[in-house]
Amino acid sequence: MSVHSKIKRVTTHTLQAMKREGVPISMLTAYDFSMASILDDAGIDVLLVGDSASNVMAGHETTLPITLDQMIYHAQSVVRAASRCLIVVDLPFGSYQGNSREALVSAIRIMKESGAHAIKLEGGAEVVESIRRIVGAGVPVMGHLGLTPQSIYQFGTYTVRAKEEAEADILIENAKLLEAAGCFSIVLEKIPAALGTQVSGLLSIPIIGIGAGGGVDGQVLVMHDLLGITKDFSPRFLRRYLNLYEEIKGGVESYIKDVKSRDFPNAEEQY
Ligand code: KIV
Repeated sequence: MSVHSKIKRVTTHTLQAMKREGVPISMLTAYDFSMASILDDAGIDVLLVGDSASNVMAGHETTLPITLDQMIYHAQSVVRAASRCLIVVDLPFGSYQGNSREALVSAIRIMKESGAHAIKLEGGAEVVESIRRIVGAGVPVMGHLGLTPQSIYQFGTYTVRAKEEAEADILIENAKLLEAAGCFSIVLEKIPAALGTQVSGLLSIPIIGIGAGGGVDGQVLVMHDLLGITKDFSPRFLRRYLNLYEEIKGGVESYIKDVKSRDFPNAEEQY
């Protein structure tokens, strides 16, 4: 029996054991109770209450507008649903960049008010002091390097990061700094597959990729993308498992038709 099949609650230690044993880690985003129940029941290892909620739940163009209070609301809903997986919550833009004390206070609010198990934040050397402080308070921290969406206006584009050697070298240095500061895992987003493999080989903590190739220790996708709820988003790294946009639309069109034709409710569907 593998470490994966006998666990009750996935912890940061489970993920580290999975890396040692070569068992790939599955991670998805979740933002609400109903979806989180399904994903947890399906056996997902990690649920990320991502600040991508700003895009897929609230309809903003970027992740920047979502607030700490809104992230806590989403996290509370996911925590109520999931009994097996590890639950990680993004620190939203503006809740940690000011200084390490602000970062610690935001991380503690998430842990105390939502009941989640870990936080994630974006960045390299510039957030190391905050990571040390949060880890020092007993809160597990996941890092995030590569295409970090909270910096989209600095990048100017959602294109692949670290294709050039100079940026790849900085990413590797930052990954080492994050591990040394106490991160239990790092997300690498939209970078060349060879670089993902290299970072995973250099570090002993699990590397979770989104568009970082198959040589990392696990994969994460935004749940709405994998289920085909988002319609006009088709990056190369995405595999769609369902086409729920069309399925849901078709179901709702049938319902409207049945209501308009008085087919619904029928004799068995009333008291
Ligand atoms: O917010 C999010 O969905 C994320 C993933 C892209 C890793 O950070």
